[in-house]
Amino acid sequence: MDKDGDEKMSWYRLLYPMRTYLIVSGAGEETDVMAADWVTVLSMKPSLVGVAVSPKRYTHKLIKKYGEFVIAVPEMSMLRDVWIAGTESGPSKLERMNISLEKSEKIKVPQIKECLANLECKVVDSAQYGDHTFFVGEVVNAVYDKNAYPRGIPDVKNADFMAHSGWTKFVRFREEEIEAE
Ligand SMILES: Cc1cc2nc3c(=O)[nH]c(=O)nc-3n(C[C@H](O)[C@H](O)[C@H](O)COP(=O)(O)O)c2cc1C
Repeated sequence: MDKDGDEKMSWYRLLYPMRTYLIVSGAGEETDVMAADWVTVLSMKPSLVGVAVSPKRYTHKLIKKYGEFVIAVPEMSMLRDVWIAGTESGPSKLERMNISLEKSEKIKVPQIKECLANLECKVVDSAQYGDHTFFVGEVVNAVYDKNAYPRGIPDVKNADFMAHSGWTKFVRFREEEIEAE
C-alpha cells in the first residue's frame, strides 16, 4: 500500500530501476533461460550471489535438479530476448529467442554468448522466503567482454547496460558518469 492508500501499487517497485539479468539453468535439451531482477551480491570472499526465484518458474525446478545456474548480463539490444525469457515458461522458449548458448568452464549449465558477462554459480544454500526461494550461489567462474568492462569495471560508453523500471518499461544508463569524490 502506498502513502495515499493505493492498494494496487507494489511497494517493491519503489526500489526500481533494477538491473535485469538472465538466469540460465539446466543443460542440453533441458536448458532454460529466465529474466530476473531480484539478484544481489552477498559476499566478496567467498564469492556469493543470491537470486530470488518463484517456485512457479520452470527455472526453479532446474536449479534444484542441477544445483547450478548462470547469471548472464544482457545488453539493451537483447530486450526482445529478455522479454521472451521473462514472459514465457520452459525450455521451448529458446526456439523463439535469438541467443547462442556456449559451454561454461566450471559447470554443466551453459552460458549466453551475446551477454556482456556470465557468472557461473554453484548452489551452496537455498531458503524459502514467502513466495520466492532465495538461491545462494558461489561464483566459481566469471567471463566478461573486456570492452564492456575495461579493467573489470563497466563502461557505459562502451556497452548499453539495461535496467528495468516498470513492468514493460526498461531504461538505459546515461553516458554521463558522476564521481562521488
Ligand atoms: C524483467 C523481468 C524480471 C523478472 N524477475 C524475476 C525474478 O527476479 N524472480 C522471479 O522468480 N521471476 C522473475 N521474473 C518472471 C520470470 O522471468 C518469468 O515468470 C519467466 O517466464 C519464468 O520462466 P521459466 O518458467 O522458464 O523459468 C521476471 C520477469 C521479467 C520480465
